[in-house]
Amino acid sequence: MSALAVSDLSAGYDPDLAIVKGVSFSVPKGEAVCILGPNGAGKSTMIKAMAGLVPCFGGKVHLGETDVTGLSPHIMVRRGLGFVPQTDNIFTRLTILENLQIAAQLLPSADRAGRIEAMLAMFPDLGDRPGELAGALSGGQRQMLAAARALLTEPDVLMLDEPSAGLSPKLVAQVFDTLRRISEAGVTLVLVEQNVRAALSLASRALVLVDGQLAHDGPSAALHDGKLLGGLFLGHRTAEASQ
Ligand SMILES: Nc1ncnc2c1ncn2[C@@H]1O[C@H](COP(=O)(O)OP(=O)(O)O)[C@@H](O)[C@H]1O
Ligand SMILES: [Mg+2]
Repeated sequence: MSALAVSDLSAGYDPDLAIVKGVSFSVPKGEAVCILGPNGAGKSTMIKAMAGLVPCFGGKVHLGETDVTGLSPHIMVRRGLGFVPQTDNIFTRLTILENLQIAAQLLPSADRAGRIEAMLAMFPDLGDRPGELAGALSGGQRQMLAAARALLTEPDVLMLDEPSAGLSPKLVAQVFDTLRRISEAGVTLVLVEQNVRAALSLASRALVLVDGQLAHDGPSAALHDGKLLGGLFLGHRTAEASQ
């Protein structure tokens, strides 16, 4: 069964102007999928619509068997969806520990301390200095804290919007190492990325979104051929997209 299934999803900011136009795909449990596409294609809009942060105009989003279309973001979290937005994903004026404590509010009180401990153990860079202000962390560490906040509630599916944006190559590698560990722990991953090479090396499958529609859905290996990806970004479509 799919961990996540999107069918004929339309979404955007104005009902007369859909940004995401009839997208369908599903992600089997435990798989890592990346979503690629040119700037402005609607990747962030789509992932936010799936997380309940942008209105859905049509279509469905299922988490496992549950229809979660249009539910509010905190209910999505309770149903097992974690989302790390591209920006403003941590509280920079609070400490690492306080950032985790806020995320833990969504858990039953008896579970909070244990889950926070588990996250500090999973991310030693954070566990070494729980009292440090989040604003003092490096870009890579901030992304780890954002991921830790989302993982605290033990999501079945974790979606991240460009976690490597603006990072140096060394920090990009660090973030992808972290994502690989998360994936190996069995969490289903949906990753929007501009860093094509890193995304394709992590994800087993790649979707390409162009102008709000899927232009490609297939194994990542097929897109290591840069010519195919270049063509897709320019508007070509492959057969897999229409299945
Ligand atoms: N908050 C918003 N209100 C209205 N339009 C928006 C908003 N955010 C993004 N858009 C528009 O939606 C389209 C897709 O943007 P976005 O989803 O950010 O693309 P991507 O993440 O693929 O770069 C763009 O035309 C953009 O201008
Ligand atoms: Mg975006």
